[in-house]
Amino acid sequence: MDNNDPYLLYHGVLVTKVSHTDDSLKYYESFQVQDDDVIAITYPKSGTTWMQEILPLLLNGGDLTPVLTIPSWDRVPWLDGLRILGIADKLSAPRAFVSHMPYHLMPSSFFSSKAKVIYVSRNPKDVLVSTFHFHQMASFLHDPGTFEEFADQFLAGNVIFGKWTDHVKCWRNTDLGDRILYITYEEMIQDLHGVLERMLLFLGKSMSKDALNRVTEHCTFKTMKQNKMSNYSLVPEALMDNKKSFLRKGIVGDWKNYFSPELESKFNTAISEELKGMDITFPLG
Ligand code: A3P
Repeated sequence: MDNNDPYLLYHGVLVTKVSHTDDSLKYYESFQVQDDDVIAITYPKSGTTWMQEILPLLLNGGDLTPVLTIPSWDRVPWLDGLRILGIADKLSAPRAFVSHMPYHLMPSSFFSSKAKVIYVSRNPKDVLVSTFHFHQMASFLHDPGTFEEFADQFLAGNVIFGKWTDHVKCWRNTDLGDRILYITYEEMIQDLHGVLERMLLFLGKSMSKDALNRVTEHCTFKTMKQNKMSNYSLVPEALMDNKKSFLRKGIVGDWKNYFSPELESKFNTAISEELKGMDITFPLG
């Protein structure tokens, strides 16, 4: 990896230089996780931004002020990102964070804390399609090449935060017990209200029926796409081509528009092989 490469290698995991530096990663390692912190963990393009919208609302009784006035990345910062250095001491409890880090690379204070984790997974074929488009709009990521070429890179784990299968496996095999809740992007699309109720229960929070209905409506794709604090339109053009939307389609099954039958078969075989022996399955269809 040379100096012009947009990525850094952190304990074998690729991260972008635009969001991580040696100093920020040192800060991350010694970060003091608090018992009432909530951390949404995702593999990239699985619903991170969605969590940055939902979590503050569930934690504050449904007050829309923060999601309408603070950019997503400062409202629910990346635990391991560069920006947290400037804002960590301004966050009020209970704090919410997001991270794409694998389990074993969480900061040591996380393991001794009682902080709760919400792990969001998404069909890896839709993750691949979403990631492919993100690489086309972000100047701080490698040129993805053709969709087929990028699919090979994705399956080999030559992408930021490594292999999708390694990520879902490490977060399924934790010692966190009832500190972790698993949800899927597909469940959120199917029944957002129901998932928000499950999240509230897990977080030990409650909300009036009206407030929950308002939060559910606020967190729909259509509404979030209009929220400039969440739709990434505030990111400078030099970093992201905003003619392409970060909140792109927000649907389940877009992969069917991209996968040839041959790629589908290769992809399913590779993913199933790597998930063999796990007691859960992920949606591949
Ligand atoms: P698509 O590219 O398939 O549209 P992340 O935030 O982890 O980077 O994930 C981005 C993906 O989540 C994008 O998927 C984006 O459109 C989708 N997304 C974000 N908010 C959403 C919402 N409220 N409803 C549905 N999808 C949403």
